[in-house]
Amino acid sequence: MGDTEGAGYELDYIPIMDLVWGKGFIAPGGEGNVDHIVKGVDLNGKRVLDLGSGAGGGTLVLASKYGANVVGLDLEAPLIELSRENASDAGLSDKVEFRCIEPGPLPVEDASFDVFYTSGVLCHIEDRLSLFRDALRVLKPEGILLGYDWFPTTLSDDINNWMNVAGLHLYPDNLENYAKTMREAGFENVYYSDASSWYQKRAAQELAELEGPLFEKAAEVTSEEMRDSIIDEWHALNVVLQSGELRSGYFQGRKPPEAI
Ligand SMILES: C[S@@+](CC[C@H](N)C(=O)[O-])C[C@H]1O[C@@H](n2cnc3c(N)ncnc32)[C@H](O)[C@@H]1O
Repeated sequence: MGDTEGAGYELDYIPIMDLVWGKGFIAPGGEGNVDHIVKGVDLNGKRVLDLGSGAGGGTLVLASKYGANVVGLDLEAPLIELSRENASDAGLSDKVEFRCIEPGPLPVEDASFDVFYTSGVLCHIEDRLSLFRDALRVLKPEGILLGYDWFPTTLSDDINNWMNVAGLHLYPDNLENYAKTMREAGFENVYYSDASSWYQKRAAQELAELEGPLFEKAAEVTSEEMRDSIIDEWHALNVVLQSGELRSGYFQGRKPPEAI
């Protein structure tokens, strides 16, 4: 797996993300997007790995709404701590576990998960082929990879501006190439679907909410400076979504039954 160059996620803006995306989410769409990612897959009683679990929002939905037993992995110790608190507050500590990891091969046993779930994370990982190979390794035969991601298609001035304002680094790619890389890693039944127009519309609404009904509340839960910097970030984000340079979508694949 390649470098993440420090994904750039910090605690201080989480309370605003709770307002915009839902409690514990730092990826677009909140709970509704989890529903979309896992649609049609029975997770009840399944062992799920959530790579890049962030503040734990997705992990907790997978456990509470879908009955999965989930291990969330993330690079950021403060986010892992927060996730554990969120799990405890939700009474879900027996269904979820959070582990802080280093970038690189996953510290997870071979063939130990039914589902590998990831949302908004692979864009930060340069060597996706190694990541997909590692995902295949940790899945049981016929295990499923389910994911959502957003990714720049180019490193244009506007994309660089958004990443600078957001303090994030994403590696350019496209969904077709995600699918090709998954197949190269050994996945079968690879499927993907573009969600760019959905998030293009949604991010415009999010900005309108931040500048409207959420304006005062966003400063209350953090500070005026943080709220204003998030609004600047959302302006820059909307530029690259409207131009089509920042895209997003879903991907799925299955580990072949005969694979070890
Ligand atoms: C956009 S956030 C998404 C968080 C969460 N999946 C959600 O839906 O709210 C990306 C997360 O991926 C984590 N991350 C980035 N690279 C990673 C890696 N190589 N291994 C594990 N986590 C990583 C970041 O620390 C951050 O918490």
